[in-house]
Amino acid sequence: MRGLILSILLFFSFCVYAEKYNTDVVPLPMFVELKGGEFTFDVNTSYKIEGVDAPDNGQLLKYLVKNCLNSSLTRKKNSGEICLKIVPCVGKYENPEAYTICARKKKIDVCASSAAGLFYAIQTIKQLLDRNGNRVPAVDIYDIPRFPYRGVMIDVSRNFRNKEFIKKQIDALSSLKINRLHLHLTDGAGWRLQIDKYPRLTEFAAWRKGETWKQWNGKYCEHDDADAHGGFFTKDDIREIVEYAASHYITVIPEIEMPAHSEEVLAAYPELSCAGEPYKQSDVCIGNEKSFEFFQNILDEVVELFPSQYIHIGGDEASKQAWKSCEKCQKRMADEGLKDVDELQSYMIHRIEQYLNSKGKSMIGWDEIMQGGLAPNATVLSWRGPQYGFKAAEEGHFAIMTPSRLCYLDAYQDAPFSQPEAIGGYLPISLMYSFDPAPDTISVKARNNILGVQASMFTEYIATDEHAEYMLYPRVLAIAEMGWTRQNLREFTDFRRRALAVNDKLKSDGYNVFDLHSEIGNRPESLESIDHIALGKKVIYNDCNWAEKYPASGESTFTDGVRGGWIYSDGRWQGFYNGDTDRALDVTIDLENLTDISFIGADFIKLSGPNVWFPEKVIISVSDDGENFTELTTILTEPVRDNVLSFKNISWNGKAKARYVRYQAFNRWRFVFTDEIVIK
Ligand code: ACM
Repeated sequence: MRGLILSILLFFSFCVYAEKYNTDVVPLPMFVELKGGEFTFDVNTSYKIEGVDAPDNGQLLKYLVKNCLNSSLTRKKNSGEICLKIVPCVGKYENPEAYTICARKKKIDVCASSAAGLFYAIQTIKQLLDRNGNRVPAVDIYDIPRFPYRGVMIDVSRNFRNKEFIKKQIDALSSLKINRLHLHLTDGAGWRLQIDKYPRLTEFAAWRKGETWKQWNGKYCEHDDADAHGGFFTKDDIREIVEYAASHYITVIPEIEMPAHSEEVLAAYPELSCAGEPYKQSDVCIGNEKSFEFFQNILDEVVELFPSQYIHIGGDEASKQAWKSCEKCQKRMADEGLKDVDELQSYMIHRIEQYLNSKGKSMIGWDEIMQGGLAPNATVLSWRGPQYGFKAAEEGHFAIMTPSRLCYLDAYQDAPFSQPEAIGGYLPISLMYSFDPAPDTISVKARNNILGVQASMFTEYIATDEHAEYMLYPRVLAIAEMGWTRQNLREFTDFRRRALAVNDKLKSDGYNVFDLHSEIGNRPESLESIDHIALGKKVIYNDCNWAEKYPASGESTFTDGVRGGWIYSDGRWQGFYNGDTDRALDVTIDLENLTDISFIGADFIKLSGPNVWFPEKVIISVSDDGENFTELTTILTEPVRDNVLSFKNISWNGKAKARYVRYQAFNRWRFVFTDEIVIK
């Protein structure tokens, strides 16, 4: 009994500590134990740094201790000391990013085996500070990251962001222990890096008339045109960014897109396109030796600028069409014995990899670099789905996970009607957090080859600094924790509580964050499975098929009780498209027995941008034998032509007795999506 009372007392005293002291750390450390009491920073707090091997000889750490921890201290009488130690790499300190914190009333001891570990310890202490910025709880922390690669990608091609913006994000990202910043520097919307050998890339291919990507007509203009919009990083800008990032233990990985997404290259240097003309293609000609000369010369300048071991060469979404009829590409294929255009792409990726390797660098590419045979030492950035990264990892390659459905920040983070227009998709922070980049379901070998996880922000619809920050935060907090914290320690409710506090802090530090407190969340219907009399009953498709890309759960979709969410492509809505007749959807549900029926209805989703519409007409009918149907109703709907996401229930109410229910929805050349046929 006494033991029980003691346990209850201990539990309550822990709760009191947790209540009294700020423990809102993101990413969650591996081990945290509150000890009771607190350490108070004051004017007498001094610090000592031992054994620092930071690139700047410890100056940065000194600066951080003084300026980050001590900036808002109020005068107090207590005195204290912080001791920061770099200890030899032994035992538990083997991981260069690991650290320990032992905070007590009089002293904080921090140990790590490298300056990066000390840096992360300081970030944790900063997050532990109370509201006044001067007290941290007495605590023991032992922390070690799950993955060595914890990345964020920013697309500066579609809408350029300047170096001040990038440096501001480095401050926030490093505070979350993100350690890679992947810059998508080149794409069809603009080349963003000074290259001395090819000045037209930045005199011309970095500029356009439209201010935003959405306003752009697809043509480039001269940099000195009166209404030219765009920009690029000079080499000095890059040096500044790289150095600033390094001092925050972030490596900047440059991406130079090839062979596709290269419209801007081909506008400036049209001889590199199969057509030999600008504005015809987006893939460079692989048959032309000059394409290799061009990219190798560029990579020479890139490797000079970026100390990163990894260089990203794009590799995604080549159309490969022009290669099929280009004489030079066909000759290359014949000479090299390449059986198709996939192998032609692979030929280029292999050659570029060899070139990078000869410069002492390693290649990363989007997962299409696996097509036609993956270059031997390449690392795969898995974006089309986790399966590509898992496959590469299983085959012995390193992989980094950024599956678009779970890691792309250009999707809506809340109910679309409440948000600025996004490119599509619905990725609330909860869904992002649910992703395990290296799950137990894959082999140990594959798990060991997964280097980490990355949030990727493409910016077609993101034109301003404020909007970019809004899309980054707080979802980057989820990526930070997915990259740092072990899977068995991750739990969304607890994460959300900490993320709210850390996100609020980012806001008070001047970041334009999405307000997680006011999140609307999932479409209400989508949260619970619905109960109705057709549940589990057989659905017969009457000479109609769902669209290949939108099967939802196949034949069980309309009677499984699972409702669709905010997005037609969330795997819960089944999509139909028909150009042959105006009948898009035609199904019969077999209730197995004659049944009293009072309601038959279905929800439809509309978003006219991607051609998703309500049906123009619905016919609902019933039958006893499945052959002779009696029509209950024909419903005509008024077309709604705006591009606002909306939902409509199209239903019949009345009295009927039948075994079979037939639901037909009509619309030609347009997608029609529904999730469930509800019968009551
Ligand atoms: C990509 O989203 N095309 C990498």
